[in-house]
Amino acid sequence: MKFSKLIYSCAGLMVGFAMTMGLAVQSEAANFNIAKARVGDGIPKSLTGKAGDAKKGRKTAIHRKKGNCLACHTMPAPEQADHGNIGPDLKGVGGRYNIAELRLRLVSAKVLNPDTIMPSFYQSSGFHRVQKKWKGKTIISAQDVEDILAYLVTLK
Ligand code: HEC
Repeated sequence: MKFSKLIYSCAGLMVGFAMTMGLAVQSEAANFNIAKARVGDGIPKSLTGKAGDAKKGRKTAIHRKKGNCLACHTMPAPEQADHGNIGPDLKGVGGRYNIAELRLRLVSAKVLNPDTIMPSFYQSSGFHRVQKKWKGKTIISAQDVEDILAYLVTLK
């Protein structure tokens, strides 16, 4: 695929994605400080103080109006058609990273790669030109993040 074409399809996807994600925005997390929570290449502490539920996490991750990870990633979820391939296949991701590393990537992929198109799922500040109603909000809740992480670590 030509580079310019790739950029256009990415942009289209991002717009569609932002539209669906808007529905799921949460109002917590105003005080969560990524820089403080970060240790090395990860965020070691659970955002909720507890371990997540892998079964719920799988549902949220593959849900088109929640995690919508399938927009960009292929996942072991044969019941859903049309997996994306903009990001790496998530099969085996639990073997490549530990839970702290996965948490940082899900909370804010931008911390590691400022140019990434992966949404920062639990970042509520540092964005530009945010609509008033989304100010201080995250895409998914702390509980959703922990549930998705509990699922991702099973993908060995
Ligand atoms: C809009 C596209 C997009 C969406 C949606 C998206 N990602 Fe990503 N993701 C990427 C890209 C691109 C990368 C490659 C890393 C980079 O860009 O820095 C990535 C990297 C990752 C990685 C690191 C994988 C590796 O092997 O290095 C994990 C884990 C991950 N994503 C999980 C998720 C989960 C879980 C969701 C859903 C809650 C999700 N992503 C939604 C685009 C996306």
